[in-house]
Amino acid sequence: MPPTDRHPIIMAAMGTGLAPFRAFIQHRAYLKRSGKEIGPVVLYFGCRYSKKDYLYGDELAAFSAEGVLTDLKVAFSRDQKEKFYVQHHIDRDPELLYKRLITQQGFFYLCGSAKQVPIDIRAAVVKAIVEISNTTEEMASDLVNQMQIKGQYNVEAW
Ligand SMILES: NC(=O)c1ccc[n+]([C@@H]2O[C@H](COP(=O)([O-])OP(=O)(O)OC[C@H]3O[C@@H](n4cnc5c(N)ncnc54)[C@H](OP(=O)(O)O)[C@@H]3O)[C@@H](O)[C@H]2O)c1
Repeated sequence: MPPTDRHPIIMAAMGTGLAPFRAFIQHRAYLKRSGKEIGPVVLYFGCRYSKKDYLYGDELAAFSAEGVLTDLKVAFSRDQKEKFYVQHHIDRDPELLYKRLITQQGFFYLCGSAKQVPIDIRAAVVKAIVEISNTTEEMASDLVNQMQIKGQYNVEAW
């Protein structure tokens, strides 16, 4: 976890990958309710259908209303004809990802399927860094590698 509770946490959860992040968010909520200062909490969440699969929608909305969850970006992949995934939110708003991860030195956590998801989301993170900082893809990719080594970019995939 980040060295302080004021560092942002940025979570990308696919489906059942939300499970560990409920605990991350609940912990920050506990700190906030205890009067402690907490940093931004960003959740990108992807599931198939809003009606069938967004099981913790009410809980997440309550955390947003409470100011614990700073940014909630949800992608329902099968509610429309074209697939819409978590990384499309990053593509749409690269400034948000860049601000929380690079400017504010947040810690990134990805949890979900091990096949294509970590590759695609990493590519979106690299692309956001390239777009906002005007660097090369190679340098942005190196930066993410360094973050991974330092524990600032974490993947739990199965
Ligand atoms: N029977 C059911 O109704 C049902 C419903 C949900 C899950 N399941 C099963 O339950 C198990 C766990 O499912 P889960 O909820 O953890 O995961 P999941 O439903 O398989 O995936 C979660 C979300 O990740 C999306 N996704 C797929 N490829 C992606 C990529 N490259 N980048 C970003 N997002 C991507 C999926 O979209 P797409 O799948 O639309 O591409 C879906 O919206 C699986 O075995 C699944 O088959 C069954």
